[in-house]
Parts: sequence; structure tokens; C-alpha cells
Amino acid sequence: MCDCQILAHYQYDGDQFILTLDSSEIAKSTIPGQFVHVTVSDSIPMRRPISVMSVDIDNGTFDLLYKVVGEGTKKLSESKIGDILSVIGPIGNGFELTDKKLPLLIGGGVGMPPIIAIAQKIKDTDCDPFVILGSEVPFPFTPEHSNIGPECDEVSHTMPLLEEWGVACRLTSLQGFEGVYKGYVTDLAKAYLDTLSKNELSKVEVFACGPHPMLEAVAKLSVDYNLPCQISLEEFMACAVGGCAGCTVEVQTERGSAMKRVCVDGPVFDARSIF
Ligand SMILES: Cc1cc2nc3c(=O)[nH]c(=O)nc-3n(C[C@H](O)[C@H](O)[C@H](O)COP(=O)(O)OP(=O)(O)OC[C@H]3O[C@@H](n4cnc5c(N)ncnc54)[C@H](O)[C@@H]3O)c2cc1C
Ligand code: FES
Repeated sequence: MCDCQILAHYQYDGDQFILTLDSSEIAKSTIPGQFVHVTVSDSIPMRRPISVMSVDIDNGTFDLLYKVVGEGTKKLSESKIGDILSVIGPIGNGFELTDKKLPLLIGGGVGMPPIIAIAQKIKDTDCDPFVILGSEVPFPFTPEHSNIGPECDEVSHTMPLLEEWGVACRLTSLQGFEGVYKGYVTDLAKAYLDTLSKNELSKVEVFACGPHPMLEAVAKLSVDYNLPCQISLEEFMACAVGGCAGCTVEVQTERGSAMKRVCVDGPVFDARSIF
């Protein structure tokens, strides 16, 4: 557990926020897919789990991206630069990065942060990732034209941070935003996979985080294309350290079904063990 000072706190449309906190320990030790458990206010005893979106090891800071959905995140949104938050973390089993050279990274809504974290981790390796981010509210950043990845006038916008990192990314939404693919993340993922040769497909592994129906659709797409797929789940949590069994999900194992705790056994699971 550590006390982290708020160094920056930006608000975006749709009640979405990016929070920068100070902790060289968390910046150094976090694996993509791990999360922190944050005290949002003195008046709310239960912490809230939020994924780590990016880290700055040189400056000893890390970023969270969150959306206000209830009382806890509302309180968090009222915190100011200089305030101190009590943080436990990093927690959980993150994504296992394998030797597949064409990772397909899919994030929906507040499931974007762990996907962005993978992109940061592999941006300087010999992998050639493609990121798809979907949102039905305005994106928690200002989409900009991309010069990396597939060329298409209508589907040309990306997240500025990913463009800065040199990672190809396209955005999806049903809302008809400029430069954004009109459809579901899985529709664009399928269109992308259909452009790949058999040899290229053998190098793809899918990583996803987002709402449950999106994860189910991603898992199905992965089965259709015979691709390995890791997904990160977001379950209701109390302790987040494995003690209360409040976050269990049914998982298929080699020895039949078993109940696993999302906080410490996950949040990342093999998609085929969940769906
Ligand atoms: C591993 C993990 C990573 C997450 N990462 C992010 C992230 O990066 N960005 C982000 O915006 N949100 C993330 N969430 C969801 C976030 O934790 C919830 O939106 C938040 O706890 C809601 O709290 P609230 O008090 O505002 O809402 P309320 O609905 O008022 O919360 C009431 C209670 O329900 C729980 N709860 C409500 N919704 C969720 C949910 N979807 N998941 C878990 N618990 C919930 C809260 O913890 C609280 O105990 C993550 C959740 C998990 C489990
Ligand atoms: S939240 Fe308590 S065991 Fe997972």
C-alpha cells in the first residue's frame, strides 16, 4: 500500500478522466492488465479497482483512465492536483505477452486502459501490433488523423498517445464520429483479419478488455479464426486481495469447471476458459 500524490487530472467528454499519480514502485513493477485499488474519498471506506493505463518509469508516475459511473468514481473525479490517494497495487495476473508478432489489441469503453498498457509495453519490440478502440460516448482523448497503419479516408483516426508511440490504431463507434469506423470493434477486427495471409494469421494473438458482450463477441471471433485470445474481466470487487470471494467467476479448466477470483487469479483469463 502507498500514498500517491495526484500530479495531473484531466477531464474529457462523457465524464471521463485521466489521472496521473506519483509512485516509482508502481511505475516500475506494473504488468499490462494489472490494476490498482484506490481510496476515492475519506467518506467512502471501500476502495475502487482501476486498471493502470500507462507508466512513466523515468519520472516515477502512472496514469489511470476512468469514467464516472457512481458515487465512488464521482468522488474520485472531485480530487485535485496535490491531493494524496491511498493505493494498493499493482494487483492481479496481467496479460502474458507471447512470441506472436502480430498482436491484435481490442479495448472497449473503460476497457481501453489495459490494452493501451500492452501497446506501451511492446511499442519498442519487433512486434507489429494493431489496436482497435471502441466507444459509444466521445473518446477520452481527442482523436487525430493517423499516418500509421491501414490507409482509408473514412477510417483514419487514432488515439494521439498511440500515434506518438508509433503503434497503429483505429477507432470504432456506432455514433458516426469523424474518421471513426462505424460498427463494433469486432466488425473492424474481422475486416483487419481478412486482409492477412495464412502465415500472418498464425502470428496473431488477440488481447481484449471491455464490456462482457464485447468480450464474448471477441472470444467467438478468435474461435472462428482459430486464434489464441486473452481477455481481462471487470467484476464487482470488495477486498481485491483474494480474501472475500466476492469476485468469483466460473472458469473451465482441464479438470472441469472451477470458481476463480477475478482479483488475484485474474483479471486476465484465456477467453476459451470463460466463454
Ligand atoms: C480489475 C478492474 C479494472 C477496472 N478498470 C477500470 C478502469 O481502468 N477504468 C474505469 O473507469 N473503470 C474500471 N473498472 C470499473 C470500476 O472499478 C468501477 O466503475 C467502479 O468501481 C465503480 O464505482 P462507483 O462507486 O463509481 O460506482 P457504483 O456503481 O456506485 O459502485 C458501487 C459498488 O459496485 C462496485 N462496482 C460497480 N461497477 C463495477 C464494475 N464495473 N466493476 C467492478 N466493480 C464495480 C464498486 O466497486 C462499488 O463497490 C475496473 C474494474 C475492475 C474490477
Ligand atoms: S474482491 Fe475479494 S476475493 Fe476478489
